[in-house]
Amino acid sequence: MDYAATTPVDPRVIEAMVQCLGPDAVFANAASTHGLGLVAKGLIEQARSDIAARVGAHADEIVFTSGATESNNLALKGTFGEELPHNSRLLTTRIEHKSVLDSAEQVARRGVAVEYLVTDACGRVDLDALASTLQAKATALVSVMHVNNEIGTWQEIEAIAALCRAHGALLHVDAAQSVGKLPVLLEDWGVDFCSLTAHKICGPKGIGALYVRRGRRLAAQLHGGGHEHGLRAGTLATHQIVGMGASYALAEPASEMPEIERLSQRLWAGLAAIEGVARNGSAATSIPNIVNVRFPGVDGESLRLALADLAVSAGSACNSADVEPSYVLKSLGLSDVAAAGSLRFSIGRFTTESEIDRAVERATEEVSRLRSLAPNAPNWCLS
Ligand SMILES: Cc1ncc(COP(=O)(O)O)c(C=O)c1O
Repeated sequence: MDYAATTPVDPRVIEAMVQCLGPDAVFANAASTHGLGLVAKGLIEQARSDIAARVGAHADEIVFTSGATESNNLALKGTFGEELPHNSRLLTTRIEHKSVLDSAEQVARRGVAVEYLVTDACGRVDLDALASTLQAKATALVSVMHVNNEIGTWQEIEAIAALCRAHGALLHVDAAQSVGKLPVLLEDWGVDFCSLTAHKICGPKGIGALYVRRGRRLAAQLHGGGHEHGLRAGTLATHQIVGMGASYALAEPASEMPEIERLSQRLWAGLAAIEGVARNGSAATSIPNIVNVRFPGVDGESLRLALADLAVSAGSACNSADVEPSYVLKSLGLSDVAAAGSLRFSIGRFTTESEIDRAVERATEEVSRLRSLAPNAPNWCLS
C-alpha cells in the first residue's frame, strides 16, 4: 500500500538492465569512443528517446540526473544561477515535495523573493490568483507539481503554463508522481523544465531526468566532464538509464489506469464503511492510485504502526521519520489532530484485489481495536 513511496522493478525492466551488467554485457563507458562505448551510448540514446516520447518532448531535451530530487534542485538553483536575473522572484506552493521547498529556501537565502500560491482544500492552484500574482510583479520562475505525492491531486498544468507564458515567467513542473498515471505533454503544454524519476513507475531507484525545453538555460550544479550538455557531469549510469527507458516505455496510462482505478474504488468503498472516515482531497481531482484517508478517533501513528504489515504511510516517505503531522495536509486546512489521524494508501501495477480486501479488513479491525482502547480520544473531529 505504498506505491507512491516507491515501486518494485518490473521484471521486463530488470531484463533490460541486465544486458548492461556483467563482463559480457554492455558495461562500457558511454563517453568512450571505442566500439563498446558506442554500443552503450546507443542504448542510452534509445532510452532518452523512449523517455522523451512518454512525456511529449524531444530526446535532446532530456538531461539525466539521480532522480527527481536532483532535478528539482537543478531546476530551481539552476534558474537562479550565479547572477540573479532582474526578475528574481519564484512562485511555488506549500504542498510541493521537500526537494522543491528546500531548494526554494536555498535560493531565498541568496536574495530571490519566494512566494507561495493560493491553493484550495484539495491543493489545487487558484488560477485567478496565479494570474493576478503574475500580473503584479515580474517573475522568473513558477514551480508547481503535476501530482501531489500525499493526496494525489493533479494540477491544470496546461492552463498554468499558458498564464506563465503570457506573463513572461518560466514554468517548472515536478512530474515524479504523474508519469504513467496521466498523459504528460510537455512540449504542447509549454512547460520549460520538468523533473522526472523512474522508481515511481516500476523502474530502478537512483535515476531520473530533468526536461529542459530547447533554448532554456540553467546553471549547472555539478561540474566535471561536461556530460549532458554541460548541465550534469558524471559517467552515465547505463543500466539505470536503460531501466528508466524501459519503465517509461511500459508506463502507458490508458492501458494501466482502468484496473488501478477499479481497485482504488474498491479500496475507498471498503474504507469508507468505517464510521467517521473521510477522504482528504477528492476523487475528482486526484489520480486514483493515491487514497489519503482521515480516521477520526484514532492516533494516526498508532494506526500506522498497527498496520505495519500493509506498509501504509503517514504522509510522504521522505518525511516518515518526522513525527510531525503532514505539512501538506495542514496547508490544506486540516488541524494537527486531523492531519495526524490520516494515512496514505497507494497502489500500483502489481496490486491485487485480495491485497485491497486485506487492507480494508485490517484497517477496519485496527481502527475498531484502537477506538475501543481509547473511547474518549480527542480527535473525533473532521477538519
Ligand atoms: C512529488 C515528488 N517529487 C520528488 C520526489 C523525489 O524523487 P526521487 O526519489 O527520484 O528523488 C518524489 C518522491 O519521493 C515525489 O513524490
